[in-house]
Amino acid sequence: MHDNIESHLVEKRIFKPRTDFAKNARIKSLAQYQRMYRESLRQPAKFWAREASELVWRARWKKVLEWKAPFAKWFAGGKLNISENCLDRHLTGPRRNKAAIIWEGEPGDKRTLTYQQLHREVCRFANVLKRNNIKKGDRVIIYLPNIPETAVAMLACARIGAVHSVVFGGFSADSIRDRIADSGAIAVVTADGAYRRGGIVPLKKNVDEALRDGTSVRRVIVFRRAGNEIHMEEGRDVWWHRELEYVDANCPPVPLDSEHPLYLLYTSGSTGKPKGILHTTGGYLVGVYSSTKYIFDIRDEDIFWCTADVGWVTGHSYIVYGPLANGATTIMYEGAPNWPEPDRFWKIIEEYRVNILYTAPTAIRAFIRWGDHWVAKHDLSSLRLLGTVGEPINPEAWMWYYKNIGGGRCPVVDTWWQTETGSILITPLPGAIPTKPGSATLPFFGIDPAIVDEKGREVGANVGGKLIIRRPWPAMLRTIYGDKARYRQQYWSEFKGNYLTGDGARRDEDGYFWIVGRIDDVLNVAGHRLGTSEIESALVSHPQVAEAAVVGRPDELKGQGVVAFVTLKASVSVTGGLKAELREHVGVHIGAIAKPDEVRFAEALPKTRSGKIMRRLLKEIASGARVTGDTTTLEDFSVLAKLAESEE
Ligand code: WTA
Repeated sequence: MHDNIESHLVEKRIFKPRTDFAKNARIKSLAQYQRMYRESLRQPAKFWAREASELVWRARWKKVLEWKAPFAKWFAGGKLNISENCLDRHLTGPRRNKAAIIWEGEPGDKRTLTYQQLHREVCRFANVLKRNNIKKGDRVIIYLPNIPETAVAMLACARIGAVHSVVFGGFSADSIRDRIADSGAIAVVTADGAYRRGGIVPLKKNVDEALRDGTSVRRVIVFRRAGNEIHMEEGRDVWWHRELEYVDANCPPVPLDSEHPLYLLYTSGSTGKPKGILHTTGGYLVGVYSSTKYIFDIRDEDIFWCTADVGWVTGHSYIVYGPLANGATTIMYEGAPNWPEPDRFWKIIEEYRVNILYTAPTAIRAFIRWGDHWVAKHDLSSLRLLGTVGEPINPEAWMWYYKNIGGGRCPVVDTWWQTETGSILITPLPGAIPTKPGSATLPFFGIDPAIVDEKGREVGANVGGKLIIRRPWPAMLRTIYGDKARYRQQYWSEFKGNYLTGDGARRDEDGYFWIVGRIDDVLNVAGHRLGTSEIESALVSHPQVAEAAVVGRPDELKGQGVVAFVTLKASVSVTGGLKAELREHVGVHIGAIAKPDEVRFAEALPKTRSGKIMRRLLKEIASGARVTGDTTTLEDFSVLAKLAESEE
């Protein structure tokens, strides 16, 4: 039995940064990246102090890092306000009248807020929070659609030192209740309803339901978005627009300790209750500021679009804090990518002349499935850089993105990170690092990752193992809210003093990182440990396949058998020989050992709201068991029933 995760997928394509891109980029060559990377590891205090000095501090830090593992203090002794850095600092020059947020609602309504306008809205809403007795350190739940007010509410909390916890608008009353109970929040900011695929999601009703049996919440502030009828609880609920009538726009930012909590973001562990990931102020700001600057190489004239929902960490770091700290123009879109038709994204890119697009592999695979003609209808020539995040991207999906969306002209940055890491940790720099489809390439500045075996020994090239990070970084989580023991246990105990990511990965002969997915998803077939993502990539490289999810099921002979759930492209119909053909295809691309024992065609795969495939559910289906685990994060419940029927 081998201990290491085997890796069989070989990707030979390599894309060097184009000279015209590199020439104008901040980091222009591999040599420059290597020089700065070495400096960032040898002299981290010097490196990060230089980055931090580009921001506004009310009191300079005394020490860049105080590290008493596993507890870090970054820029200890420093004082600052993140909303001042995202807003006020841009008001003294020409950025004052530049678009900060360009927003489009699902029904097609549009708004643009300049930095000055956004600043004014944030100050007014911060005064509304104060008027409602919300103070520094209080926790505030934000349960809103992807609208500018979500960013306004976040920045207003940050301005007065309240701690926000955004709950994704697709979550249910139960999820809100759990998060209120864990955080002890005293207020909720919500809307009457949210638009989604033409319908209205009753946000306020969900909040009412969550609060029904009494909680710590004393105040609910309601933004009118969808105009649907709602109940307002006397003495508890107030309207956002009415509250604004009582306040002015004067609200100086409160200087906060660098380690003052900025936000909590709940992330589901594979089992157990959601963890409240705590991020703080100074280190987080420096992390998202510098990663946005170098990785997206963002320019004043750029229009940057991260398609995530603000409710996820990607939205926190790369719709709101990272771009605004850089004085960039960030696009926000409220709705679904296929509403009213599957070309909504391309329409938006064409209309606003978007330059940088940052999206998820799950979306890319959906676009592939819907067909290239939706893309071909639109002029995407404004794009100059593409990014992905959230899952390993299959090389074929990468190639499609590169060719069909980027026109073969735009670098693709495949960015690896987590809710816990706060900012991107492994990624190409678009003007410097040659890319290989499917690899997140090399570590960002200051990040020291390694791949280790069960005993914590670093493994050699092309050997799979566990991905760890060997030293703290500025935007890292500080703890799990209210549970230091779980924080220590979960992330820092297996390899003492090292951060355990929970992902499996390998490094190739060039030192490039290839993430193979969550360790829990690794299969053990006849003594071979196989990463599910490689088998999935092999399947997706078949011209008729749109998406694949691979899981194991108990097998007396081999330990585990391989079961593949496959969705086909919209134009493809199932033929008799296709299953056998797909098994052969995997055999050719990876090896006989990885051939699925069973292939099942499905209309759709079960996914979380953030687009990750829920393999846990598929495992239960594959082994013939009833689905018993928690399904509250599932995006579309009907998928489960259909999958059970997909049986041979
Ligand atoms: C996965 C999202 C491969 C990984 C920012 C990680 C990725 C988890 C990539 C975190 C990538 C994210 N390549 N896998 N570029 N990006 N992942 O907390 O398994 O929603 O641990 O944060 O997504 O998901 P989370």
